[in-house]
Amino acid sequence: MPTTPTRTSRRGNVGFDNGLTNYGDAEFSRYLRRSFAKSMGYSDASLAKPVVGICYTASGFNNCHRHFPEVLSAIERGVLANGALPVSFPMISLGEAFLTPTSMVYRNLMAMAVEEMIRAQPMDAVVLMGGCDKTVPALLMGAASAGKPAALALAGPMVSGSHRGERLSACTDCRRFWARYRAGEISENEIDVVEGRLAASAGTCSVMGTASTMAMISETVGMTLPGAATIPAVHADRLRISEATGARAAEMAVSGGPRPADLITGKSIENALRVLLAISGSTNAIIHLTAIAGRLGIEVSLDRLNELSDETPVLVDLKPVGSGYMEDLHAGGGLRGVLCELADKLNLECENLEGSTISERIADSPFDPIDSNVVRNRDSPVRSVGGLVALRGSLAPGGAILKRAAATERLLEHEGRAVVFSSLNDLAARIDDPNLDIEPSDLMVLQNAGPRSESGMPEAGYFPIPKKLARQGVTDMIRISDARMSGTAFGTVVLHVTPEADLGGPLALVRTGDRIRVSASEKRLDLLVDDEEIQARRASFSGARPRPERGYASLYHRSVLPATQGCDFDFLAAR
Ligand code: FES
Repeated sequence: MPTTPTRTSRRGNVGFDNGLTNYGDAEFSRYLRRSFAKSMGYSDASLAKPVVGICYTASGFNNCHRHFPEVLSAIERGVLANGALPVSFPMISLGEAFLTPTSMVYRNLMAMAVEEMIRAQPMDAVVLMGGCDKTVPALLMGAASAGKPAALALAGPMVSGSHRGERLSACTDCRRFWARYRAGEISENEIDVVEGRLAASAGTCSVMGTASTMAMISETVGMTLPGAATIPAVHADRLRISEATGARAAEMAVSGGPRPADLITGKSIENALRVLLAISGSTNAIIHLTAIAGRLGIEVSLDRLNELSDETPVLVDLKPVGSGYMEDLHAGGGLRGVLCELADKLNLECENLEGSTISERIADSPFDPIDSNVVRNRDSPVRSVGGLVALRGSLAPGGAILKRAAATERLLEHEGRAVVFSSLNDLAARIDDPNLDIEPSDLMVLQNAGPRSESGMPEAGYFPIPKKLARQGVTDMIRISDARMSGTAFGTVVLHVTPEADLGGPLALVRTGDRIRVSASEKRLDLLVDDEEIQARRASFSGARPRPERGYASLYHRSVLPATQGCDFDFLAAR
């Protein structure tokens, strides 16, 4: 016969009894909370269960998460089946193409909201739902700081479509077709048709862009279940792994772990850097990984990145560096395939959220062979060295990033004349001016597009080849800026130059006609102007521009750290 729990027996630090609202009378707080919880239809039996919060990032402004209602149901099913109570709560969502000036500005806002809502609301564990570029870093940053047991449920990549018999998908092909349109190779009618074919389903961009890279990194450090990074968004396996993630989160709610700090460690971060290099992942991932690690007091060193890069070949043949899409990587072995190839270079004892070590995760799986056309063997890599390299020199004393795997080989060692654009507005006004004085051997420099600039470090580092050169067949030139670049882009593009121009870094002092030298082999980026001239320019540098005075913009500009520190806020990074 069912018994009614006594008031005393309901007490504890589980589920809805967690973190009571403070009215100065804990008994009253508990009574009031239960009363309001019951108004949502919860029974005493439900209220006695541990709670798994589900951080829900569906939004009408986020195409990549449009299948999240179905994914949420699967997660809830898993939580319920394992004896806990699923409670979803809405969270800021960052749809990459729907935010101005750039989603990057709002990553920290989302991270703050994630942290505070996990901490403030009564949950014993949390499932983080994310996928689109900035959402996963924001979720992991916030969850790392909140410190409760957390499991990541990913959106998964979209599937590819086709155009004139050719496969295409977001978003390397977006840029490729746009470059062809600018060069006059395809018509306005055709670019309109392509516009409707680039994003064929729900899910994240299906090349090795930022979303795919962060998914691979998240699985590497163990914040997802095995296989989660590559399962297509619309595949039934996506729902099954979402259900399994909910089930695991229910167990974590009872056991109290693992927490993000148990999984994201110095060793697992080093594994993530290895994977980042082997997949030739997005340059943005360096910033995000630095910020996530920074929440736990772990430093990501550019010098260490370079050491790893020189001994880690690019193994994954996906766009923008190679030819495939995420669905090919999934069918060809997924992250497991990459980990297998890198096994002797990894910290194999690192565990994931279900307690499996990397050794266990790469154990033989006869039904899931690794396709060496997609995940290459170490003796026939896509590139013999890692996809990313950090540069330092007189133009970037604090460092800069070059995606060498996506660069034009002959430009990796190059000296030439600088052509400077002082801002994004200046770039837009002059790049297609037929009278612009520019040659294919010049290096284009964009100033004032870094984290503290008005534009908030947009993905503008891959700026276009001037139309008059594009129409002559020029497809790549060296571009240097303090901006970022989409992981789906390609070209010889030097990014994240630190200190940024807005802070008076050497980048702010470059003038058209200066000589600049780039050397990927020496990992150098130098402005070949003598010291006396630099000092004179510095003395006349004014730099000051009006700062935002209110709201989040004001907080952002006061607090954002340089790219080399992950662009986190100074008061959020661990000290
Ligand atoms: Fe969401 Fe590319 S737009 S991942």
